[in-house]
Amino acid sequence: MKILVVMGSPRKGNTYRAAERIRELMESYGPVEFEYLWLGEANLSPCRGCFVCIAKGEEKCPNRDDAPAIEQKMREADDVIFASPVYGMNVSGLFKLFVDRFCYIFHRPRFFEKKALLLTTTGALGIKEVLSYLALVAQIWGFEVAGRAGLITPPGPILEYRKEENERKLARAAESFYRAVRNGRRKRPGLKDVVIFHGQRGSFGELEQAAPVDYRYWKERGWFDTGARYYVDVPVNPVYSAIGRIVERQARRQIWKDCAS
Ligand SMILES: Cc1cc2nc3c(=O)[nH]c(=O)nc-3n(C[C@H](O)[C@H](O)[C@H](O)COP(=O)(O)O)c2cc1C
Repeated sequence: MKILVVMGSPRKGNTYRAAERIRELMESYGPVEFEYLWLGEANLSPCRGCFVCIAKGEEKCPNRDDAPAIEQKMREADDVIFASPVYGMNVSGLFKLFVDRFCYIFHRPRFFEKKALLLTTTGALGIKEVLSYLALVAQIWGFEVAGRAGLITPPGPILEYRKEENERKLARAAESFYRAVRNGRRKRPGLKDVVIFHGQRGSFGELEQAAPVDYRYWKERGWFDTGARYYVDVPVNPVYSAIGRIVERQARRQIWKDCAS
């Protein structure tokens, strides 16, 4: 299995060491192949804020750089590790630039057959913030989040108890990621996943004129069909669907209200 590590640290430091430990642990379970995508070395320019990728399609982005090749790398990988150190209480600038450049995927999600492991390291704070941000990005892009680890790696010698705690977190994340990757099957979506599906469906379904690329993408995949419960064909808890439909109605109403005013 081919794992792509999207690395948001500019150096081979704590986050890289943690990812390498995950590789070692996974290799002890079975064959895996790791490839690193070093965002610091990638030719990826900042988003210009022109909305062209969202409104007209990502192939029309005026930046001519490695973005299409990076998306292709993610498509070719079996599964992905999103790794970023905590910088200023959130993901690193490199990682945020990466997310910004692929914002069209929030509208047109695509990685449903892949699992993601989320990894962060910090001097002290920010684990919760970074892991929930990475989870949101991965989830909306279509990944199933199958492992997460946030390590405290302060400068200087790390106390023994901290080392053990970090090792436990890495072992737990590597094991659950490996199991999910091996198993391959998609888990049933949670309430949040179903609500996101319906919320987006309500919005994009009303935006044929304003967001035709999104509308077409959703329509081609049958996501507007009455029977569609989720992006992919998996069993969905009917209570979640009922809640999702309420959210969908609210989203539609909001669009009508905004368009009318
Ligand atoms: C620019 C910068 C900003 C940082 N911001 C924070 C922070 O907000 N909170 C924190 O606890 N640690 C912070 N740190 C510490 C890093 O999160 C920590 O050292 C991390 O393990 C670095 O990972 P790396 O070695 O893979 O780059 C920061 C470090 C740098 C270089």
